[in-house]
This record gives sequence, structure tokens and C-alpha cells, in this order.
Amino acid sequence: MSGIDERMSEDEYKSTYIESDYYKDTQFDSLTIDNWLNDDELKIFKDAGYSEDSFKVRDTAMAPLAKFHYDQDPEEHLTANYMIFSNFYDDPKWSHLVDIIQPKLEKTFGNGIYASHIHLLDSHFPYGLHNDAEQSNMKIAPHPAWTLIVPLDDYDSTTYVFKERSGVKDPVQWATQNNIPRNEDMCVSREIYERDFAPITSEEPFHYLTVDSTFKWKKGSCFAADRYKYHCSDNFFNHSVNSKQAIIMWTSRK
Ligand SMILES: [Fe+2]
Repeated sequence: MSGIDERMSEDEYKSTYIESDYYKDTQFDSLTIDNWLNDDELKIFKDAGYSEDSFKVRDTAMAPLAKFHYDQDPEEHLTANYMIFSNFYDDPKWSHLVDIIQPKLEKTFGNGIYASHIHLLDSHFPYGLHNDAEQSNMKIAPHPAWTLIVPLDDYDSTTYVFKERSGVKDPVQWATQNNIPRNEDMCVSREIYERDFAPITSEEPFHYLTVDSTFKWKKGSCFAADRYKYHCSDNFFNHSVNSKQAIIMWTSRK
């Protein structure tokens, strides 16, 4: 593994992993493993995330949509807090977390899988359609594999994963660039659209996508999905959920 701070240039990273055909040669099936972490293990991760040792990031990316749909004040809007376990494998303060997670990662996903990025997510606004292909051009994570979600509790909220894979973040941009035919029907029924997506995620992308898998957030379960597949949160506000928390990992192959 290269040094933790070693980075490729933005151009080199984009041409190698995002704009090339690299991702077409790799496929990772979605899977869910129940009881992947027990209550004690979840608490250890939660405590570490909320300790002063983690690197805190406050995300307000969804402020314009929160203002538009819910008239939230942009000054007070919170999309999510990320409590990042930086230098996960090299910083001794995370060794107790590595001891918990690494044997499970290898047992479940095979040798050579590691968490090239890991954080505790405290989500306060549903995240829209995207993929997790990009990772700040880090040289340490050259081979993206699965994104993992391990909820800290049971929530009436569902992650949707779509079959379509790309290095381009925005699915409509991807469809336009690649002349993807527009289906007359959305890939979800009108009833499901209204229940799980309206009004935050627009209807248009669903004319280009196909549902691959869904994951209802369950305490301690591990949901794994290909990092290049488009995915999004449901609109959990429609289910009277205000926020949700999970351990999020982006895995890579050595
Ligand atoms: Fe994601």
C-alpha cells in the first residue's frame, strides 16, 4: 500500500479510473449480511466517532433543495455530519476498530479487501442519486469495490441501488453523454415514487435507471453495493424519520 497522503494528480486519477473503461471490468454484486456487528461493537464505533479523535465534517450540500422543498433556512440547514476515522490503518488510536472490522471484511468480502475510507454518518437530509466511484484521487485506493452501510439502529428508511454503473456522478449527465435510451416508464411505480422519493429526487433519472437492490436500514446489518452503481437514500422524511446514523465504508481491493 502506498503512503497514506500520497495522491495522484486530478487528471491522472480521472483518466485512469473515471473516464476510462476501467470500471467496466469490475462488478460487485449487492449483498446484505444481518447481525454483522453486535450492539457492543456498534457502540465502540459510535463512541470513537463522537470522540475528539475523529475528523468532523459538516455537510450542507443539500441546502438549496431543503430551502426549495421544505423552506429550511440555509443558515441552519444540516445535510449530514461525517465523523471520519482518518488514517484508519496507520493511526494507533483506531487499532481497536481495525481489530473489529478487518477480520469481518476479509471473511465476508475476501482477502485483499480493506476500508479505504470509513466514517460515522449522521444524516439529517436524504442524499440524492450519485455513485461512490471517486475518492479524492488517493493513490491508496486504486481499485474501488463495495460501499458498505452498517446502521447504528433500526430506521424506517431504505437505500436504493440501481443496476447502472458509471464513473460520472450525475445519472442524467451520464445518460446524455452515453446516449442511454429514455424509458417511457419510471423504474419504480408511481406509488413507490410518491412514498419513497417525492419531492426531493426528481422523476427524470428514474426513466434511465433500473432497480438493482434495496436495503431497509437495520441495526448491525451490513449492506454492500458496487461503488460504481448509482444509489440514493429514500426520502425518509416521508416516513417520519428525521435523521439516521450508520458506519459507512468505501472498500477497495489491494
Ligand atoms: Fe454513496
